[in-house]
Amino acid sequence: MKDRLALVQAYGDLSEEESQRMGNTGALDEGLVDRMIENVVGAMPLPLGIAVNFVVNGEEILVPMAIEETSVVAAASNAAKMARSTGGFQAETTDPVMIGQIQLVDVPDPEKAKERILERKEELLELCNAKDPILVKFGGGARDVEVRILDSLQGTMVVVHLLVDCRDAMGANAVNTMAEAAAPFLEETTGGRVYLRIISNLAVKRLARAQATWPKEAIGGAEVVEGILQAYAFAAADPYRAATHNKGVMNGIDAVVIATGNDWRAIESGAHAYAAMDGHYKPLTTWERDANGDLVGSIEVPMAVGLVGGATAVHPTAKANVKLLGVKTAQELAQIIAAVGLAQNFAALRALATEGIQRGHMSLHARNIAVMAGASLDEVDEVVRRLVAEKAVRMDRAEEILKEMRSES
Ligand code: MEV
Repeated sequence: MKDRLALVQAYGDLSEEESQRMGNTGALDEGLVDRMIENVVGAMPLPLGIAVNFVVNGEEILVPMAIEETSVVAAASNAAKMARSTGGFQAETTDPVMIGQIQLVDVPDPEKAKERILERKEELLELCNAKDPILVKFGGGARDVEVRILDSLQGTMVVVHLLVDCRDAMGANAVNTMAEAAAPFLEETTGGRVYLRIISNLAVKRLARAQATWPKEAIGGAEVVEGILQAYAFAAADPYRAATHNKGVMNGIDAVVIATGNDWRAIESGAHAYAAMDGHYKPLTTWERDANGDLVGSIEVPMAVGLVGGATAVHPTAKANVKLLGVKTAQELAQIIAAVGLAQNFAALRALATEGIQRGHMSLHARNIAVMAGASLDEVDEVVRRLVAEKAVRMDRAEEILKEMRSES
């Protein structure tokens, strides 16, 4: 690792300090990072904040969030606080079932092939389960088979879905191993040729749902409820807005997914594909007014997170974060993540439908600007105060303010 870093330092003309920062692996042992990925030279830390006020299924929870964006942790905490008087978040999940896809081409008779595969389903499931006795021992394993006939650019394809209950694993390894093991059996059964054998991130059989009620008095009154409903209607009608609406949801979701060492690319791809499931990209949350005039929000999103295997099992900070959450199953973790996504969306919509997000955002952003402009710890607060008072949270102004302050003193 040191040799690589030295090469990179020379190639990139990096200073000693820059190279040391890059090479600082923080909470991770050098041996560990060097085994986690390839060509390792160091680590890239993210801030870790703790969202407070969350009650999920009656449990008080401190939520670790790893994210570089200001306001997200504060907004989630604030949203969760306003939902406390109605009991916080109620959340649930489906069974943790992932889909493994096996692509068959040049199948002589696709309809017949479908029939034959379904006839031999039990044999196929047995063959798959023999590949992962540990998963079966923990109550998971291949559960069912679906067969789809697809028209494609290359003609008709038969696509087999293996439905695998992954229990507390994210499941990619288990599912991919089973999909590869199933391939020869499926070729023999159908007379076709297998190409791809891989998990689908569109995890429609592994959903997490959460719901909460925000009393109108707690969130600023009936007008705020109305504003949030207008914001939701906008997102439901318009993919340009829905993309940003869902970005706000993912601010919360990704931060917890990352903090717990899970694969956020898998969660992102699953969430957006799910949002576009019916051919029209939609918000991942829904909002309505109840009989009291209070605001009820809900979320439904694929949530392929695990507690065993992957970085969750080896990254020491991820392990500590999972312990802090107190979750015993991947499903409990998925429920909390869904609740945070909903809270994050609520906070964004409330801000957008009232004063806009810039005021709150800017005072936090001003801290970053002040530090970047070179303010020392003693100077930061005053620079922030002046930037916000002037409503000019800009780097050039921060530099001028610093100069002014220094000449004043
Ligand atoms: C910013 O990170 C997220 C928002 O744009 C989300 C939204 O517009 O709903 C505020």
